Amino acid sequence: MNIAVIRETFNKQFGAPGAVFASPGRVNLIGEHTDYNMGFVLPGAIDKCMVLELKPNGTNKCRVHSVDMKQSGEFVIGQAEPPVSLSAGKENAWILFFYGVVEEMRKRGKTIEGFDCVFGGDIPLGGGLSSSAALECAIGFALNETYALGFDRYELARIGQLTEHNYVGVKCGIMDQFASLFGQAGHVIKLDCRSLTFDVVPFDPKGYRVVLINTMVKHALGTEYNERVAQCAAGVAAVKTKHPEVQSLRDVTEAMLNEVKAICDPLSFQRSMFVIQENNRLLTACEALKKGDYKTFGAKVYGSHEGLSKDYGVSCEELDFLVEQAVKYDALGARMMGGGFGGCTINFIEEGKYEAFIGNATAAYEKQYRITPLVYPVVISNGTARVE
Ligand code: GLA
Repeated sequence: MNIAVIRETFNKQFGAPGAVFASPGRVNLIGEHTDYNMGFVLPGAIDKCMVLELKPNGTNKCRVHSVDMKQSGEFVIGQAEPPVSLSAGKENAWILFFYGVVEEMRKRGKTIEGFDCVFGGDIPLGGGLSSSAALECAIGFALNETYALGFDRYELARIGQLTEHNYVGVKCGIMDQFASLFGQAGHVIKLDCRSLTFDVVPFDPKGYRVVLINTMVKHALGTEYNERVAQCAAGVAAVKTKHPEVQSLRDVTEAMLNEVKAICDPLSFQRSMFVIQENNRLLTACEALKKGDYKTFGAKVYGSHEGLSKDYGVSCEELDFLVEQAVKYDALGARMMGGGFGGCTINFIEEGKYEAFIGNATAAYEKQYRITPLVYPVVISNGTARVE
């Protein structure tokens, strides 16, 4: 992201400069839809960020301008009603991220005063790379520094997640915010979403490149995502009738789920089985990665896509098409990434086949759907920081 553009816009709108912060998007190697089931995920921060400049303005008003959307929004600290209503449409809905983070911080007893802010970024919106989480983390980090609020990165991740739950209406897990805040260059994070303990795993797949292809089918997580969350909860409720100690699908084995097949509705059963298997795939893939066994890792990545598509029902025709293209170029692994219903595939491609794969896969996609897909080579990068 071009910081100069943010600075210039801030100067025009608000005058004297503030501090600048950046928070990255993320990839997830494997472990999808496991985070809100208290399982494991394997994300890393990427070299695409949301950037914001922020400065207190001595009033009780927050005035915000989006460079990319060329829109402005504002609210008064402590106003009871959100500044825009989600049901009224998406226009200016991004101001809810600011309002939500401020409110979540106020709930935790902190005092925040009015500020001016300009933001923008190069994370494609609705591309499954967590532009929303990156924005929440940038806002949280900036306010924490500016007003010396004393939150640690764990609390900032939770504040971002609860902003989604309480103000945006998506009952998401904690993966995206965690990856954005805790990212480390050259490493992926094996995060236990129950305890929030994590290992960093060096990620250097020698001889392979990691590349994302954006279907340009925009996903907006909402009803369908929350439906999956509810179906998993129904799976847990069914298992609890036999195993009352169970708290989440993390505690459930395939055998335990099979025991309650008769009393579990078929779709909840199918979704829950996927989550149990996906968590196991992640554990195997992660061990393989540590040993440099990319073949096993890649097989699990393909397995993840198949499960996400057939059992979890969060893929789409365009994503499946791009994964098939990767198979043709003997990709080590390929799958849809993130919440699903559009967005990007992540592909692990041998160096020597990279150019041919990109050229042919994008041409085939364009021919089939009359849409030009975008290609992003991935660099695993550091997490949220003040940059100027
Ligand atoms: C979205 C959510 C995450 C996670 C993924 C699927 O990115 O925000 O919490 O559930 O989908 O793994």
